[in-house]
Amino acid sequence: MILPANDSGSVTWQSPSNIALVKYWGKIPVQIPQNPSISFTLSNAYTETSIQYRYDHMLKDGPHIDFRFEGQEKPAFAKRIKQFVATLISSFTWLSHCHLHIDSSNSFPHSSGIASSASAMSALALGLCDIAQKIEGKAWEEKRFLAKASDIARQGSGSASRSVYPHLAMWGLHKDLKESSNEYAIPYTKGFHPRFLTFHDDIMIISPKEKSVSSTVGHQLMENNPYASTRYAQANENLAAIIQAMQANDMDTFGRIVEEEAMTLHALMMASRPGYMLMEPNTIEAINSIRSFRAESNIPVYFTLDAGPNIHLLYPDDVSGEVQAFRESSLRTLCYNNTIIEDHVGKGPKKIS
Ligand code: PMV
Repeated sequence: MILPANDSGSVTWQSPSNIALVKYWGKIPVQIPQNPSISFTLSNAYTETSIQYRYDHMLKDGPHIDFRFEGQEKPAFAKRIKQFVATLISSFTWLSHCHLHIDSSNSFPHSSGIASSASAMSALALGLCDIAQKIEGKAWEEKRFLAKASDIARQGSGSASRSVYPHLAMWGLHKDLKESSNEYAIPYTKGFHPRFLTFHDDIMIISPKEKSVSSTVGHQLMENNPYASTRYAQANENLAAIIQAMQANDMDTFGRIVEEEAMTLHALMMASRPGYMLMEPNTIEAINSIRSFRAESNIPVYFTLDAGPNIHLLYPDDVSGEVQAFRESSLRTLCYNNTIIEDHVGKGPKKIS
Protein backbone atom coordinates (compact mmCIF):
# COMPACT_ATOMS: atom_id res chain seq x y z
CA MET A 1 0.00 0.00 0.00
CA ILE A 2 1.44 3.41 -1.00
CA LEU A 3 0.23 6.21 1.21
CA PRO A 4 0.09 9.84 0.06
CA ALA A 5 2.39 12.47 1.60
CA ASN A 6 -0.55 14.54 2.80
CA ASP A 7 -4.30 14.31 2.76
CA SER A 8 -7.20 15.91 4.57
CA GLY A 9 -10.97 15.89 4.54
CA SER A 10 -13.99 15.08 6.62
CA VAL A 11 -16.70 12.42 6.84
CA THR A 12 -19.99 12.27 8.75
CA TRP A 13 -21.94 9.12 9.61
CA GLN A 14 -25.15 8.47 11.50
CA SER A 15 -25.42 5.08 13.14
CA PRO A 16 -28.29 3.68 15.19
CA SER A 17 -28.46 1.86 18.49
CA ASN A 18 -29.67 -1.74 18.57
CA ILE A 19 -31.61 -3.93 20.97
CA ALA A 20 -30.47 -7.52 21.47
CA LEU A 21 -33.07 -10.29 21.32
CA VAL A 22 -30.52 -12.97 22.25
CA LYS A 23 -27.98 -11.26 24.48
CA TYR A 24 -24.20 -11.06 24.44
CA TRP A 25 -23.05 -11.25 28.05
CA GLY A 26 -19.58 -12.53 28.79
CA LYS A 27 -16.45 -12.19 26.66
CA ILE A 28 -12.83 -13.18 26.32
CA PRO A 29 -10.04 -10.77 25.30
CA VAL A 30 -10.21 -8.84 23.06
CA GLN A 31 -13.95 -8.37 22.82
CA ILE A 32 -14.62 -11.92 21.60
CA PRO A 33 -18.11 -12.98 22.68
CA GLN A 34 -18.72 -16.11 24.75
CA ASN A 35 -21.92 -16.71 22.79
CA PRO A 36 -23.65 -15.53 19.62
CA SER A 37 -26.28 -12.77 19.77
CA ILE A 38 -28.91 -11.25 17.48
CA SER A 39 -30.50 -7.80 17.56
CA PHE A 40 -32.97 -5.46 15.96
CA THR A 41 -31.25 -2.40 14.53
CA LEU A 42 -33.13 0.71 15.66
CA SER A 43 -33.80 3.93 13.80
CA ASN A 44 -34.58 7.04 15.88
CA ALA A 45 -31.92 6.47 18.57
CA TYR A 46 -28.68 7.20 16.75
CA THR A 47 -25.29 8.89 17.08
CA GLU A 48 -24.01 11.28 14.44
CA THR A 49 -20.23 11.55 14.25
CA SER A 50 -18.13 13.86 12.07
CA ILE A 51 -14.42 13.27 11.73
CA GLN A 52 -12.13 15.90 10.23
CA TYR A 53 -8.79 14.33 9.45
CA ARG A 54 -5.41 15.68 8.45
CA TYR A 55 -2.86 13.11 7.40
CA ASP A 56 0.77 14.19 7.18
CA HIS A 57 3.46 11.53 6.74
CA MET A 58 5.92 13.77 8.66
CA LEU A 59 3.69 13.77 11.72
CA LYS A 60 4.74 11.27 14.39
CA ASP A 61 3.23 9.84 17.58
CA GLY A 62 -0.35 10.15 16.39
CA PRO A 63 -3.21 9.85 16.33
CA HIS A 64 -3.67 13.32 17.81
CA ILE A 65 -7.33 13.51 18.73
CA ASP A 66 -9.62 16.37 19.67
CA PHE A 67 -13.01 15.15 20.77
CA ARG A 68 -16.22 17.09 21.37
CA PHE A 69 -19.58 15.70 22.41
CA GLU A 70 -22.48 17.95 21.45
CA GLY A 71 -20.01 20.82 21.18
CA GLN A 72 -18.57 20.33 24.68
CA GLU A 73 -15.40 18.74 25.95
CA LYS A 74 -16.20 15.45 27.70
CA PRO A 75 -13.01 14.14 29.28
CA ALA A 76 -14.44 10.70 30.18
CA PHE A 77 -15.74 10.05 26.62
CA ALA A 78 -12.59 11.54 25.10
CA LYS A 79 -10.39 9.18 27.12
CA ARG A 80 -12.31 6.09 26.00
CA ILE A 81 -12.25 7.21 22.36
CA LYS A 82 -8.53 8.01 22.41
CA GLN A 83 -7.69 4.66 23.97
CA PHE A 84 -9.87 2.85 21.44
CA VAL A 85 -8.50 4.66 18.37
CA ALA A 86 -4.92 4.08 19.59
CA THR A 87 -5.60 0.30 19.54
CA LEU A 88 -6.47 0.51 15.81
CA ILE A 89 -2.99 1.53 14.62
CA SER A 90 -2.14 -2.08 13.76
CA SER A 91 -5.12 -2.16 11.33
CA PHE A 92 -4.72 1.42 10.11
CA THR A 93 -1.02 2.38 10.24
CA TRP A 94 -1.77 5.85 8.82
CA LEU A 95 -3.48 6.71 12.10
CA SER A 96 -0.11 7.37 13.71
CA HIS A 97 0.39 10.25 11.23
CA CYS A 98 -3.05 11.76 11.71
CA HIS A 99 -4.81 14.61 13.46
CA LEU A 100 -8.47 13.77 14.04
CA HIS A 101 -11.11 16.23 15.14
CA ILE A 102 -14.14 14.20 16.19
CA ASP A 103 -17.58 15.73 16.88
CA SER A 104 -20.33 13.47 18.11
CA SER A 105 -23.95 13.96 19.12
CA ASN A 106 -26.85 11.70 20.02
CA SER A 107 -30.44 11.97 18.83
CA PHE A 108 -31.55 10.98 22.36
CA PRO A 109 -30.76 12.73 25.65
CA HIS A 110 -27.49 11.52 27.16
CA SER A 111 -29.07 11.19 30.58
CA SER A 112 -31.96 9.05 29.30
CA GLY A 113 -30.32 5.80 30.31
CA ILE A 114 -30.18 4.54 26.71
CA ALA A 115 -26.91 2.71 26.13
CA SER A 116 -25.08 4.83 23.61
CA SER A 117 -21.90 2.80 23.10
CA ALA A 118 -23.39 0.74 20.23
CA SER A 119 -24.41 3.79 18.20
CA ALA A 120 -21.32 5.81 19.19
CA MET A 121 -18.74 3.14 18.43
CA SER A 122 -20.40 2.06 15.18
CA ALA A 123 -20.63 5.66 13.89
CA LEU A 124 -16.95 6.18 14.74
CA ALA A 125 -15.93 2.88 13.11
CA LEU A 126 -17.84 3.69 9.91
CA GLY A 127 -16.17 7.10 9.75
CA LEU A 128 -12.69 5.64 10.29
CA CYS A 129 -13.22 2.95 7.63
CA ASP A 130 -14.40 5.64 5.23
CA ILE A 131 -11.24 7.66 5.90
CA ALA A 132 -9.16 4.47 5.49
CA GLN A 133 -10.55 4.06 1.98
CA LYS A 134 -9.61 7.63 1.13
CA ILE A 135 -6.08 7.60 2.57
CA GLU A 136 -5.29 4.05 1.40
CA GLY A 137 -6.84 4.79 -2.02
CA LYS A 138 -9.19 1.79 -1.81
CA ALA A 139 -12.85 1.27 -2.61
CA TRP A 140 -14.09 -1.77 -0.73
CA GLU A 141 -17.30 -3.27 -2.00
CA GLU A 142 -20.19 -2.62 0.39
CA LYS A 143 -20.21 -6.05 2.05
CA ARG A 144 -16.49 -5.87 2.78
CA PHE A 145 -16.71 -2.26 3.97
CA LEU A 146 -19.49 -3.11 6.43
CA ALA A 147 -17.72 -6.24 7.71
CA LYS A 148 -14.60 -4.15 8.31
CA ALA A 149 -16.61 -1.41 10.06
CA SER A 150 -18.35 -4.07 12.16
CA ASP A 151 -15.00 -5.57 13.16
CA ILE A 152 -13.63 -2.14 14.13
CA ALA A 153 -16.85 -1.24 15.99
CA ARG A 154 -16.67 -4.55 17.91
CA GLN A 155 -13.27 -3.61 19.27
CA GLY A 156 -14.82 -0.43 20.74
CA SER A 157 -17.96 -2.08 22.12
CA GLY A 158 -19.10 -5.63 21.35
CA SER A 159 -22.75 -4.81 20.72
CA ALA A 160 -21.69 -1.99 18.32
CA SER A 161 -20.62 -4.65 15.80
CA ARG A 162 -24.32 -5.32 15.09
CA SER A 163 -25.35 -1.68 14.50
CA VAL A 164 -23.78 -1.35 11.03
CA TYR A 165 -26.52 -3.43 9.36
CA PRO A 166 -30.20 -2.74 8.65
CA HIS A 167 -33.09 -4.64 10.30
CA LEU A 168 -31.44 -7.55 12.13
CA ALA A 169 -27.83 -8.54 12.69
CA MET A 170 -26.15 -11.48 14.37
CA TRP A 171 -22.68 -11.59 15.85
CA GLY A 172 -20.65 -14.52 17.17
CA LEU A 173 -19.92 -18.01 15.93
CA HIS A 174 -22.83 -20.41 15.73
CA LYS A 175 -22.45 -23.97 14.49
CA ASP A 176 -25.47 -23.78 12.17
CA LEU A 177 -24.52 -20.47 10.55
CA LYS A 178 -21.36 -20.93 8.60
CA GLU A 179 -21.10 -17.24 7.68
CA SER A 180 -21.08 -16.26 11.37
CA SER A 181 -17.94 -14.85 12.99
CA ASN A 182 -16.66 -13.76 16.38
CA GLU A 183 -14.85 -10.83 14.75
CA TYR A 184 -17.72 -9.13 12.95
CA ALA A 185 -21.49 -9.23 12.74
CA ILE A 186 -23.49 -10.23 9.67
CA PRO A 187 -26.88 -8.97 8.50
CA TYR A 188 -29.44 -11.70 9.10
CA THR A 189 -33.02 -11.74 7.85
CA LYS A 190 -32.87 -14.89 5.75
CA GLY A 191 -36.40 -16.19 5.23
CA PHE A 192 -37.81 -14.04 8.05
CA HIS A 193 -41.51 -13.29 7.98
CA PRO A 194 -41.88 -9.60 7.00
CA ARG A 195 -43.81 -8.94 10.22
CA PHE A 196 -40.53 -9.01 12.14
CA LEU A 197 -39.18 -6.12 10.09
CA THR A 198 -42.10 -3.95 11.24
CA PHE A 199 -41.36 -4.23 14.96
CA HIS A 200 -41.70 -1.24 17.24
CA ASP A 201 -39.42 -0.71 20.22
CA ASP A 202 -40.83 1.80 22.71
CA ILE A 203 -38.04 2.53 25.15
CA MET A 204 -39.58 3.17 28.55
CA ILE A 205 -37.18 5.25 30.63
CA ILE A 206 -37.71 3.86 34.12
CA SER A 207 -34.64 5.63 35.45
CA PRO A 208 -32.17 7.98 33.74
CA LYS A 209 -29.48 7.34 36.36
CA GLU A 210 -26.04 6.10 35.47
CA LYS A 211 -25.88 2.32 36.07
CA SER A 212 -24.33 1.28 39.39
CA VAL A 213 -22.37 -1.48 37.63
CA SER A 214 -21.09 -0.86 34.10
CA SER A 215 -21.39 -3.40 31.26
CA THR A 216 -17.60 -3.73 31.28
CA VAL A 217 -17.69 -4.92 34.89
CA GLY A 218 -20.79 -7.05 34.18
CA HIS A 219 -18.98 -8.94 31.40
CA GLN A 220 -16.00 -9.49 33.72
CA LEU A 221 -18.21 -10.89 36.46
CA MET A 222 -19.35 -13.63 34.08
CA GLU A 223 -15.87 -15.15 34.43
CA ASN A 224 -16.71 -16.44 37.92
CA ASN A 225 -20.43 -16.80 37.46
CA PRO A 226 -21.45 -20.35 38.48
CA TYR A 227 -24.07 -20.45 35.70
CA ALA A 228 -21.80 -19.23 32.90
CA SER A 229 -21.41 -22.44 30.90
CA THR A 230 -25.13 -23.27 31.08
CA ARG A 231 -25.86 -19.73 29.94
CA TYR A 232 -23.59 -19.95 26.89
CA ALA A 233 -25.25 -23.24 25.86
CA GLN A 234 -28.72 -21.69 26.33
CA ALA A 235 -27.81 -18.68 24.17
CA ASN A 236 -26.70 -20.97 21.32
CA GLU A 237 -30.00 -22.87 21.52
CA ASN A 238 -32.05 -19.69 21.78
CA LEU A 239 -30.31 -18.17 18.77
CA ALA A 240 -31.19 -21.13 16.53
CA ALA A 241 -34.75 -21.27 17.91
CA ILE A 242 -35.48 -17.54 17.54
CA ILE A 243 -34.27 -17.57 13.92
CA GLN A 244 -36.60 -20.50 13.20
CA ALA A 245 -39.46 -18.71 14.97
CA MET A 246 -38.95 -15.56 12.87
CA GLN A 247 -38.90 -17.66 9.70
CA ALA A 248 -42.11 -19.48 10.68
CA ASN A 249 -43.92 -16.36 12.00
CA ASP A 250 -44.13 -18.16 15.34
CA MET A 251 -44.78 -15.13 17.55
CA ASP A 252 -45.26 -17.12 20.77
CA THR A 253 -41.83 -18.75 20.55
CA PHE A 254 -40.24 -15.45 19.54
CA GLY A 255 -41.76 -13.71 22.58
CA ARG A 256 -40.91 -16.53 24.97
CA ILE A 257 -37.25 -16.40 23.96
CA VAL A 258 -37.00 -12.60 24.01
CA GLU A 259 -38.39 -12.42 27.57
CA GLU A 260 -36.36 -15.42 28.74
CA GLU A 261 -33.21 -13.69 27.46
CA ALA A 262 -34.02 -10.46 29.33
CA MET A 263 -34.77 -12.31 32.57
CA THR A 264 -31.68 -14.51 32.20
CA LEU A 265 -29.44 -11.46 31.69
CA HIS A 266 -30.67 -9.93 34.94
CA ALA A 267 -30.64 -13.28 36.78
CA LEU A 268 -26.97 -13.64 35.80
CA MET A 269 -26.27 -10.22 37.31
CA MET A 270 -28.04 -11.17 40.54
CA ALA A 271 -26.12 -14.46 40.68
CA SER A 272 -22.70 -12.87 40.01
CA ARG A 273 -20.05 -12.76 42.73
CA PRO A 274 -20.70 -10.12 44.02
CA GLY A 275 -24.31 -10.03 42.90
CA TYR A 276 -26.09 -6.85 41.88
CA MET A 277 -29.46 -5.77 40.61
CA LEU A 278 -30.21 -3.15 37.96
CA MET A 279 -34.00 -3.52 37.79
CA GLU A 280 -36.05 -0.93 39.69
CA PRO A 281 -39.45 -1.50 41.32
CA ASN A 282 -41.16 0.08 38.29
CA THR A 283 -39.31 -2.29 35.95
CA ILE A 284 -41.04 -5.21 37.69
CA GLU A 285 -44.37 -3.40 37.81
CA ALA A 286 -44.17 -2.82 34.04
CA ILE A 287 -43.19 -6.44 33.32
CA ASN A 288 -46.16 -7.74 35.32
CA SER A 289 -48.49 -5.30 33.59
CA ILE A 290 -47.25 -6.27 30.09
CA ARG A 291 -47.66 -9.98 30.87
CA SER A 292 -51.20 -9.53 32.24
CA PHE A 293 -52.25 -7.44 29.24
CA ARG A 294 -50.90 -10.09 26.87
CA ALA A 295 -52.60 -12.93 28.75
CA GLU A 296 -55.97 -11.12 28.69
CA SER A 297 -55.85 -9.76 25.14
CA ASN A 298 -53.76 -12.37 23.29
CA ILE A 299 -51.96 -9.46 21.60
CA PRO A 300 -48.28 -10.13 20.79
CA VAL A 301 -46.45 -7.57 22.89
CA TYR A 302 -43.25 -8.42 24.74
CA PHE A 303 -40.53 -6.79 26.77
CA THR A 304 -36.79 -6.96 26.81
CA LEU A 305 -34.16 -5.25 28.95
CA ASP A 306 -30.64 -4.05 28.36
CA ALA A 307 -28.11 -4.01 31.15
CA GLY A 308 -30.22 -1.42 32.99
CA PRO A 309 -33.70 -0.79 34.41
CA ASN A 310 -35.38 0.47 31.22
CA ILE A 311 -38.00 -1.59 29.43
CA HIS A 312 -38.02 -2.08 25.67
CA LEU A 313 -41.61 -2.74 24.61
CA LEU A 314 -41.62 -4.83 21.43
CA TYR A 315 -44.60 -5.41 19.11
CA PRO A 316 -45.32 -5.77 15.40
CA ASP A 317 -46.87 -2.81 13.62
CA ASP A 318 -50.20 -4.58 12.94
CA VAL A 319 -51.09 -4.39 16.68
CA SER A 320 -49.70 -0.90 17.31
CA GLY A 321 -53.13 0.71 17.90
CA GLU A 322 -54.08 -1.63 20.77
CA VAL A 323 -50.58 -1.72 22.28
CA GLN A 324 -50.17 2.04 22.24
CA ALA A 325 -53.56 2.52 23.95
CA PHE A 326 -52.44 0.08 26.67
CA ARG A 327 -49.05 1.81 26.89
CA GLU A 328 -50.66 5.19 27.48
CA SER A 329 -53.16 3.95 30.05
CA SER A 330 -50.94 1.58 32.02
CA LEU A 331 -47.23 2.09 31.35
CA ARG A 332 -46.43 5.75 30.81
CA THR A 333 -46.86 6.78 34.44
CA LEU A 334 -44.30 4.15 35.48
CA CYS A 335 -41.63 6.03 33.52
CA TYR A 336 -39.33 8.74 34.78
CA ASN A 337 -40.96 12.07 33.81
CA ASN A 338 -43.38 9.93 31.75
CA THR A 339 -40.59 9.49 29.19
CA ILE A 340 -40.95 6.91 26.43
CA ILE A 341 -38.76 7.07 23.33
CA GLU A 342 -40.57 5.57 20.35
CA ASP A 343 -38.37 3.63 18.01
CA HIS A 344 -38.68 0.83 15.46
CA VAL A 345 -36.63 -1.55 13.34
CA GLY A 346 -34.57 0.62 11.02
CA LYS A 347 -32.58 0.74 7.83
CA GLY A 348 -29.11 0.94 9.38
CA PRO A 349 -26.40 3.61 9.26
CA LYS A 350 -26.41 6.58 6.87
CA LYS A 351 -23.52 8.45 5.38
CA ILE A 352 -24.30 12.15 5.71
CA SER A 353 -21.24 13.54 3.96
O1 PMV B 1 -21.47 -3.92 24.03
P1 PMV B 1 -21.43 -3.92 25.51
O2 PMV B 1 -20.09 -4.33 26.05
O3 PMV B 1 -21.93 -2.64 26.10
O4 PMV B 1 -22.42 -5.06 26.04
C1 PMV B 1 -23.79 -5.02 25.78
C2 PMV B 1 -24.50 -6.11 26.41
C3 PMV B 1 -26.02 -6.10 26.32
O5 PMV B 1 -26.50 -4.87 25.83
C4 PMV B 1 -26.60 -6.32 27.69
C5 PMV B 1 -26.51 -7.22 25.42
C6 PMV B 1 -26.29 -7.06 23.95
O6 PMV B 1 -26.09 -8.09 23.30
O7 PMV B 1 -26.38 -5.94 23.43
